[in-house]
Amino acid sequence: MGKLITLDEFIYQRQKDFPFSTGELSGLLRDIGVASKIINREVNKAGLVDITGLTGEVNVQGEAVQKLDEFADATLIDCLRNSGEACGYASEEQDSFHTISTFDNANAKYIVLFDPLDGSSNIDVNVSIGTIFAIYRRKTDAGECKLGDFLQRGRELVAAGYVIYGSSTMLVYTTGNGVNGFTLDPSIGEFCLSHPDIRIPEEGNMFSTNIGYYSFYPEYVKDYIRFCMDETEDKKPYSLRYIGSFVADFHRNLIKGGIFMYPASKQQPEGKLRLMYECNPLAFLVEQAGGRATTGTRDILDIYPDELHQRVPLFIGSKHMVDMIETYCTDAILQTG
Ligand code: AHG
Ligand code: MN
Ligand code: MN
Repeated sequence: MGKLITLDEFIYQRQKDFPFSTGELSGLLRDIGVASKIINREVNKAGLVDITGLTGEVNVQGEAVQKLDEFADATLIDCLRNSGEACGYASEEQDSFHTISTFDNANAKYIVLFDPLDGSSNIDVNVSIGTIFAIYRRKTDAGECKLGDFLQRGRELVAAGYVIYGSSTMLVYTTGNGVNGFTLDPSIGEFCLSHPDIRIPEEGNMFSTNIGYYSFYPEYVKDYIRFCMDETEDKKPYSLRYIGSFVADFHRNLIKGGIFMYPASKQQPEGKLRLMYECNPLAFLVEQAGGRATTGTRDILDIYPDELHQRVPLFIGSKHMVDMIETYCTDAILQTG
C-alpha cells in the first residue's frame, strides 16, 4: 500500500505549487473537510437520533426542509465562521447571502456557496446523499458582501467540490489543477488520498435521468434517450442509473463514465438543479477531469447568473456523450428555426 496522504497533507503540499499562496484557501478547504466529517457523523446515525424526517418548514425553493438539511447547513456555517477565511456565504437553505462579520473574517477574501445536503429525499431511505461547495474570491474590497460577490460565472471559481456520504464517505475537489478524491478512514478520522488525478472516461455506457418525466421532455432529449436505449451493430443499449441524489449520480459517472441529464421540461421550464451551488461547482470539477457540462446550448460555466437560486437545464459527464446531446439540441433549434 502506498504512503498514506491525508487531505491536510495534500492541501499543504499543493499549496507549495502556488508560490504566492498565503494558506487562506488551504485553511478554508481544511475547514470544509472538518464540517463534512461532522455532517458524516450525523448522517451515519440519522436513523438512531431524532434527526431524520421533516422540520415542517419549507425553504426558499418551496421544498420541505429535512432536519438533516438544517443540521448540515448550520454545521457548514459554523465551520466557515470559525475558519476566519470566508467573508460570506450563500446556501440552498438560506433565502439570501450572508456576510460573516466576525473580526477574524472581516478581511477574508473568499466567499462560499453550498448545497449543504444534496439528495435530501433519500435521507430516510438510507440512500447516498452529499454536500456540494463552490469557492470564489470576493469582488468587493472589504466590508459587507454584495450580491455581485456571489453572482459570478463558474469560470471565476477558485475551488469546488463535493462530499458523498455513501458506502464510504469521500471528498472530491479541484482548485483548477486536476481533481483528487479522498476517502474518510473512520478509524483515524482523516480523509486519505484514494483517487489521485481523477479523469472521467470520454465515453460511457450509462445515462442518468428521471425517466418518469420522459413525456414532458423536449423531443431532442427523447431522441437522445432512445439513442441510449438502442442496440445497433456497434452499440449495446446503455444502462439507466438514477439515484435521485445528484452528487451520487455524478460521482458514479465521473468514475465510470456516463451522462447525467436534468433537462428543461413543460413542468420545469428551467430544469430543477440550481446553477450557483449544484451545476457550477460540478461543471468546474468535471471540466478539470476532462468532461463537459452544458445547458444544451451553452457551457454551464459561461452563464452570467441573474439570481442566487436560479435553475438551469443540465447535461453533465463524459465529453463525447455531452457533445452528442448538445448536437441533438442545436440540430433541433436549426430545424425549428
Ligand atoms: P436537494 O436535495 O439538494 O434539493 O437536491 C435534490 C436534487 C438532486 O440531488 C437530484 O438529482 C434531483 O433533485 C432529483 O430530482 P427528481 O426527484 O425530480 O428526479
Ligand atoms: Mn441538491
Ligand atoms: Mn440540498
